[in-house]
Amino acid sequence: MPTTQTSDSAAQDTPALIVFDHPLIAHKMATIRDQATNHRFFRAHLSQIAGLMVYEVTRSFKTKPIPVQTPVTKTTAQQLIGTITIVPVLRAGLGMIHGMLEVMPEARVGHLGLARDEETLEPIAYLNKLPKDLDAGPVILVDPMLATGGSASAALTMLKDAGATDLRMICLVAAPEGVARLHKDHPGIKIYCAALDERLDENGYIVPGLGDAGDRMYGTV
Ligand code: PRP
Ligand code: URA
Repeated sequence: MPTTQTSDSAAQDTPALIVFDHPLIAHKMATIRDQATNHRFFRAHLSQIAGLMVYEVTRSFKTKPIPVQTPVTKTTAQQLIGTITIVPVLRAGLGMIHGMLEVMPEARVGHLGLARDEETLEPIAYLNKLPKDLDAGPVILVDPMLATGGSASAALTMLKDAGATDLRMICLVAAPEGVARLHKDHPGIKIYCAALDERLDENGYIVPGLGDAGDRMYGTV
């Protein structure tokens, strides 16, 4: 079971930050953090962890009863309501969607391109390709790194501007600074992360973190 924390700034009766403490995820996180792990294994582990996290991230998704004829009898089963949309933030978010789609193949995928300016750490948007009816169901923002929170905050604003109403974020590693920024800018949005790290360094990198997720994923280090 994941551990949970409730944000002081966001008045709500459900946790605003869900940190996974599953042994399988922790084991894979050790591999992904290791600087000796090459891009091939980094990608594989990122995708696998994302797939494992889907189980908890989708827990609140609504279902409706439907009649089903089994080989034995008629019964009532459950079917998801609404269209699920996954939105990875390029580049690194792309590394999580394959694992998510493996267990949630019915989801559609929108794309947001954001690059963090190395000097100012401010996000620069370069792509916005989203479905028109984002309010047709739950939307999951996907980015492995939540550092200052600038990119995720901008992405959530873009999703809200595009009509999304039922939002949450999934990431691999979160810094307390990024979590606080999201709680302030977007209160009520749940954040699911595989690990909550200690802090940011002077360059805005997460400590201990895993380095630059996009570079490690694509071998552009
Ligand atoms: C990384 C990461 C996030 C962002 C997090 O992307 O994937 O999008 O940094 O930092 P923040 O919380 O301080 O905004 P980056 O800008 O390096 O782009 P890339 O994925 O193309 O390498
Ligand atoms: N982006 C990354 O890829 N890694 C960090 O540690 C911070 C931002």
